[in-house]
Amino acid sequence: MNIKEVGIIGSGQMGNGIAHVCALSGYKVVLIDIAQDALDKAMGVINKNLSRQVQKGKITQEDMDSSLDRISISTDSSTLNNADLIIEAATENFDLKVKIFQGLLEHIKDECLLSTNTSSMSITKLAAATNRPERFIGLHFMNPVPVMKLVELIPGIATSDEMLTITKEFAQSLGKTVATSKDYPAFIANRILMPMINEAICALYEGVGDVESIDTAMKLGMGHPMGPLALADFIGLDTCLAIMNVLHEGFGNPKYSPSPLLVKYVEAGWYGVKSGKGFYEYP
Ligand code: CAA
Repeated sequence: MNIKEVGIIGSGQMGNGIAHVCALSGYKVVLIDIAQDALDKAMGVINKNLSRQVQKGKITQEDMDSSLDRISISTDSSTLNNADLIIEAATENFDLKVKIFQGLLEHIKDECLLSTNTSSMSITKLAAATNRPERFIGLHFMNPVPVMKLVELIPGIATSDEMLTITKEFAQSLGKTVATSKDYPAFIANRILMPMINEAICALYEGVGDVESIDTAMKLGMGHPMGPLALADFIGLDTCLAIMNVLHEGFGNPKYSPSPLLVKYVEAGWYGVKSGKGFYEYP
């Protein structure tokens, strides 16, 4: 199958990043969200990030302009009628994702491929809620999408080999390298990353070190580009908690219990960068 047009559901930090790289790689993009405000904000972010790439000499002004021309935005999912591939990048809420997929099935082509950017949920279970589980896959991008080189590819139990091949080639056409994971809670990347972040929050909760010491230890001691607490703020503490809950419920192992401090921050609405406060403040 020749993918030409990509429908992206959700215009938050992942959705707008995916729209950016797809458009820059020559795909037509339809970016969907429920609120026009969110879409306008997403176009502002894409514009800013493309400009940054122009300024750094990574792409030309023409690349930027033609990429922006390839993106259309809409609050109406019937505009996905021409899409060859859908990438769902909505909030990490299983029932919401099912509702989204079921709502778009009546609008899309029979041959349209389906994928989700979920960072932890069962691909098999989401696929089973659609009418094409053999053409459904996990396509998990990393944040910031224009910068990070990895795409995790997660076939569900019913995903066909052909679907795996097509989506691998698609991810490679975006300049990404693929790591394939079996469909178990949080896959590979977050299965390893989130317990590390959660442990950093446990160390803070227990007073082993303060925010700065914990992040400095991991940045300078391990060569990580960001400390785990800054990274948690960057990913979103609500997302970190959702992933820890999927690991905890999925494996039933107490080693995956989310830190009480992580739970408390999320209860307070302290989600990190996106809410202006997490382990750090973002004026
Ligand atoms: N779009 C385009 N380019 C961007 C960008 C964006 N959104 N964000 C940063 N860049 C570019 C910058 O222009 C800069 O380019 P040059 O190398 O050409 O100078 C480069 O990326 C580095 O950026 P900065 O100089 O602004 O800042 P930095 O050196 O501190 O790097 C960072 C920022 C890339 C975010 C770096 O701190 C980093 O790699 N952090 C770790 C990110 C990470 O671990 N991501 C994975 C999170 S887990 C996940 O996503 C999965 C999940 O399901 C939760």
